[in-house]
Amino acid sequence: MAILLTGGAGYIGTHTCIELLNAGYEIIVLDNLSNSSVKALNCVSELTQKNIKFYEVDLLDATNLENIFKENTIDAVIHFAGLKAVGKSVETPLHYYHNNITGTLILCEIMQRYNVKRLVFSSSATVYGVPKSVPIFEDSPLNATNPYGRTKLMIEEILRDLYIPNEDWNIAILRYFNPIGAHPSGRLGEDPQGIPNNLMPYITQVGIGKLDKLKIFGNNYPTIDGTGVRDYIHVVDLALGHLKALEKVMSSPGVDTYNLGTGRGYSVLEIVEAFERVSKKKIPYEIVDRRPGDIATCYADATKAKEKLGWIAKRDIEEMCADSWNWQFNNPNGYESSKNIHLIN
Ligand code: NAD
Ligand code: UD1
Repeated sequence: MAILLTGGAGYIGTHTCIELLNAGYEIIVLDNLSNSSVKALNCVSELTQKNIKFYEVDLLDATNLENIFKENTIDAVIHFAGLKAVGKSVETPLHYYHNNITGTLILCEIMQRYNVKRLVFSSSATVYGVPKSVPIFEDSPLNATNPYGRTKLMIEEILRDLYIPNEDWNIAILRYFNPIGAHPSGRLGEDPQGIPNNLMPYITQVGIGKLDKLKIFGNNYPTIDGTGVRDYIHVVDLALGHLKALEKVMSSPGVDTYNLGTGRGYSVLEIVEAFERVSKKKIPYEIVDRRPGDIATCYADATKAKEKLGWIAKRDIEEMCADSWNWQFNNPNGYESSKNIHLIN
């Protein structure tokens, strides 16, 4: 039983590779390495002592994508591949729409042709835009506020439309909240290019001394301490959510959407405090203006994933901070710092 992971060399993809391999699945990874390194897949192989079949292929390259389906018997696809930087999506919207949406269309057409109709798709809490109330339920209003978010929203709609005349498709749409953390081995983690946009990698880079201080984007939100509140989820819990979603699409047809979050929000200052506690590092910060487009509070109601997938996030905020720090500390320059071993084929 082979599972194809598009974008499987990325942050969430590699953590999911580990859990799938440990659970006994055979996996095939497709990635164009535009935002990842083959070294991450080498680490996955080393940690699991299993081989990964890897194709350096772009989703937009229909010929080579089709070859993967010709050469392998694929039971299901987990579709991570996509560009994810909100700011860049505003600067280069066509690039984002083309990569994320056209890539998904090509993938679905080829899946249909090869009768592979089980799909788990990486969506995002960003599709909720500015929530009217929290916690956010799967049927809360949708309203993405930037091109990246709109690619996710449009793909969700495309998948729901795809199902209408093709009721033999089994599709799970997973809306991730804020993934942080890293593999407990310290060998795998998030490796952003340049200065990080997201909170946790920024904090860990301050911790390691690569950045001077954290800039906190506003302390006048209507939250516990004025700073933004988010539902941070450990990337290993998120990876395990994919196994549960996979079991679901293997067993029953339909298209359904699930929030993957913890159901609890933490403010920026609470994250800084938790990080300082576990790392014993002081994180200097200054309060600056709000970041345009940011919202005050966002956290999930994750009851549906619990009831329908049998999944729940188990790792707490201290474990998230400890694993993020362990990864950063052991790999100050991300995968640049890791050994170049060759275990994939
Ligand atoms: P990532 O950038 O680490 O992984 C995405 C992978 O897709 C990368 O390895 C990249 O090289 C690959 N890729 C991009 N376009 C491709 C293409 N055309 N062909 C082949 N490969 C391509 O990101 P991630 O954090 O692992 O996110 C995985 C998915 O989850 C993305 O779709 C992202 O939008 C979504 N998501 C991420 C977050 C987050 O905070 N990390 C939150 C919500 C949703
Ligand atoms: C960001 C993305 C969103 C994506 C989500 C999940 C933006 C505008 N949104 O959301 O599309 O789905 O990540 O990864 O990029 N913060 C600081 N200083 C920093 C960085 C962040 O104070 O240097 C604050 C933010 O204001 C926010 C919180 O930390 O309150 C979390 O920020 P971030 O990690 O960027 O995630 P989101 O803004 O939730």
